[in-house]
This record gives sequence, C-alpha cells and structure tokens, in this order.
Amino acid sequence: MAYLIGVDVGTTGAKTILVDEDGTLVASALQEYPLSTPRPKWSEQDPEDWVQGTIATIRSVLSVSGVNPADVKGLGFSGQMHGLVLLDESHAVLRPAILWNDVRTTEQCYEITETVGRQTLVEETCNPALEGFTAPKVLWVREHEPEVYDRARHILLPKDYVRFRFTGDLAMEVSDAAGTLLFNVRERRWSKTVLDALQIPTEWMPPAYESVDVCGKVTASVAEETGLAEGTPIVGGGADNACSAVGTGIVSEGLVSASLGTSGVVLAHTDTPLVDPDLRAHTFCHAVPDRWYTMGVMLSAAGAFRWFRDALGAEEIARAEAEGVDPYELLTQRAEQAPVGSEGCIFLPYLAGERTPHADANARGVYFGLSLRHGKNEITRATMEGITYGMRDSLEIIRDLGVDVTHITATGGGARSEFWRQMQADIYDATVTTINQAEGPALGAAILAGVGTGVYDSCESATDALISPTTENRPAMENVPIYDEYYGVYRDLYHALKPQYDDVADIVDRVTR
Ligand code: XUL
Repeated sequence: MAYLIGVDVGTTGAKTILVDEDGTLVASALQEYPLSTPRPKWSEQDPEDWVQGTIATIRSVLSVSGVNPADVKGLGFSGQMHGLVLLDESHAVLRPAILWNDVRTTEQCYEITETVGRQTLVEETCNPALEGFTAPKVLWVREHEPEVYDRARHILLPKDYVRFRFTGDLAMEVSDAAGTLLFNVRERRWSKTVLDALQIPTEWMPPAYESVDVCGKVTASVAEETGLAEGTPIVGGGADNACSAVGTGIVSEGLVSASLGTSGVVLAHTDTPLVDPDLRAHTFCHAVPDRWYTMGVMLSAAGAFRWFRDALGAEEIARAEAEGVDPYELLTQRAEQAPVGSEGCIFLPYLAGERTPHADANARGVYFGLSLRHGKNEITRATMEGITYGMRDSLEIIRDLGVDVTHITATGGGARSEFWRQMQADIYDATVTTINQAEGPALGAAILAGVGTGVYDSCESATDALISPTTENRPAMENVPIYDEYYGVYRDLYHALKPQYDDVADIVDRVTR
C-alpha cells in the first residue's frame, strides 16, 4: 500500500495527515504555534516555529501509524498564503514573517496601485493591491527597515520556507506565487512588468513550479529529525485555498465550494482565468495544472457566529455545559423558532472590516431593522442569515463572471448544521452538498503529492476516487424569493453606511490614540 503525507502550514499551527492511497486517514497531528502582534495592525510569526511544528507532527504521524517510511511515496505542503519570508545571501531569515492578516501596509497599497496602474494589475496580477498580499509587505520593509531590505536576497512564502528547510532548494509554486501580487496569474510566471515597476529584483523570486511538480527531496538531516526516508519526494504543494479546493474536489469547470469557517471563502474552479474587471474577487492559479480559480473572502463568517456565542450566548453556553451539548446547537434551535428573514432584522457581519466585495477595513457589524418584536431568537437567526448574505456577495460576483452556479459544496463549521445548510441553499438559490472528507487543505496537499509521484493519474481522477457527497439540501422555493428581497436590502446597507463607517473609524482612531 502506498501512503502520502499532507502538511498544512496554517496560521494557528502545523497540521499533518498521513493517508493511504484510498484516501483513508491513517494518522493526524497538530502542533500549534504563537502569532505575535507587537503593534496594532501587525501580525507576525517566527518561521522556525513552522519548521519545528512540521517536523514534530510528521514524526508523530509516522510513529503513531507505524507505517514504514519507505512506503510514504510523497509529501506535499499546503500553506497560509501571502506571508513574507525574507532571506539573506546565506539563506538566514532576516526578520519575523509578516502574515496575510497583517494590515500595516495601506499606504504601500496606494503606492502600488499608483506606480503599477490599475489596468496593469487587472492584466498581470489579476488582483488589487490589498494589505494582506506580499508585495506591499516588501515595500513596507524597504521603507521602514532599510537595513533589513539591503541584506535581502530571496523572497519565500511560509510553506516554501518549510520546504526549503526540508530539501535545501529554493522554490515556489504557482498557486501561492499568485498571491504575491508579483506574478502574472494569466501566464503563470513572474511578472517582470510589476517587479520592475516596484524595483524588486527578479532574481529574489525562486522558480515557480506547478503544484504537482516534484521540486525537492527530503535531506538526510531532515530524514533523521522526522523519521521520513531520505530522498522522499516533495511536490510544489499549494496555497491553503487551492489545496482546500483539491481536498474538496473542486477541480473541474463549474464546481464551486462555500466554506463557512472563521473566515468565509467562496471558490469556483475555472478552466481559464476569470477576472472581475472591478477586482472585487481574487483570481489565482489553481493547484490543478494549468487551471485557475476565482474566490471571494469574507473576513468574519462563522467567526461572527462565534463572536455572537461569546458576546450574547452566556445562557446557551451554561445550558450546553450542563446538558453536555454544543452551545451552537442551542443557538441554532433558537434561530429555527424565528421566521425566514428574521422579521426584517438584517445583520452586517463586518466585525473585522471586509475583504470581498468591499475591501474596506473600516466596515463594522450592524443589526439593522430592530423592533420591539425582536428577541434573541430573531437576532440569532439574523446573525446566521447576515453571514450567509455575505457569502452570497462573493457568489454573485462569480455568477456575474458567467459561472452558472447550481451546486455548491459546503465545508467548514457552518456545514455541520442541517439548519444552516438549508439556509445556505435558500440564500444561494443552489443545491448545497457536503462530502465525506473533512481534511481540506492537508488532504489536497497529500493528493498533489500523489499526483506528482504517480500514485494518481491526475487531480481529477484522484478526487473522483476519494471524494463523494454525503448530504444534499435543495433550495426551498417558498424561501428563495423572500431571501432575495432581503438580500437586496443587505447589499444596499453597506453603501448607505459607508460615510458613517469612515467617520467612526476616524473618531475611534483619534480618541484611542
Ligand atoms: C487568502 C487569504 C487567506 C489565507 C489564510 O487570500 O488571505 O485565506 O490564505 O491562510
């Protein structure tokens, strides 16, 4: 039997899974690591923590499973996107990595849009300059830490740094390179135009492989530390969203997933690059060779429901503990008592600002339309509906680009509840299914390793064999038009409130300075 290892170098920790060639999970391990926020808006990690977390979890899955390391045919990494790792000439890390959720670079984003030009961004990078992406972080280091910048010689992303430590080879792959804003996403190569415009040396960028390409082998010293066999092939792997799409079976035209995790991601596979001319959604290279995906990212999705539980659900938390159930189950039971549309209460879930479709750090949460008749049941339901309207915003952009979305694979915490799945089907006006695999990014990385080492013929044939639907919810025709109308109001509310969002951000900034 052949085995594969997938490692997700995430933001909260490194998660490693060991699967057999039939996709059965044999062992998994997680090692968390810290995230530091030394200043407001900053978010950093020590790359050494990723390496040590990866080593420890690989060691653990090998020893727990008892699998012969020689039977591990390949290893793939999935990684948090966009994080900047700067190396000097001797490949030493120059400063803590600046992560995807670090928002110190608003000025550099303006600078990039100005210097490169919006049209060139549409044509080359297929994405706008956003604080989370890598290029503005490079400019920030150049402007604020020139002594660091002067010593920089190589740029890597989180999982690529881990692979470098495992193999000794500097490499990237297209799905993560696409999130740097320095990559020509349509042509799957570094963008000389953007690199030159920003005066970032092209030679700092490592070769960009396809995600299934083998681009290194485990060194003797890492073999010793992890228990892997020396020479085990490591593929390019992919960005976490691309790997998650592979691990969810979103690998051919027309397939779409909606993930309700802390953040929300709506992602559509496309055979050719589909770019929103207004750059509201992201277009990145897929981990499937020569394919792309278009994606919308909500910053607070199920995370907004967690906030609700913690801020307003003390009663449910206490009851849940006494009854040995999940507090979300009790909150969902409340939501079920309220009518579709929560009698006009609409929640805007912008608790951490919003990325898609507004790209606005000042946007904030709102309960709109409260009346004397509204109680906790309605407000709970409104919270779930508002989060789902936010997901629909991304879906509508994908539909506007011509993708006919009739079926959606739901994943993440929000897919576990039958009630929320039905609400998604009604609000998306699409059939919502769930699948038999829950390992998302790590499984996707393992599949890429399997394709790259010949265990599978292709991503498509692997996911056909390993992934199958488990539940299905069809839209309830009586609810669809009601939600449609409320969604129209939801859409207008952000624009109506935009000036007040900016005013409040300004006041908060001055008062709390
Ligand atoms: C995608 C993004 C996040 C990170 C999280 O653009 O910023 O999904 O990849 O790891």
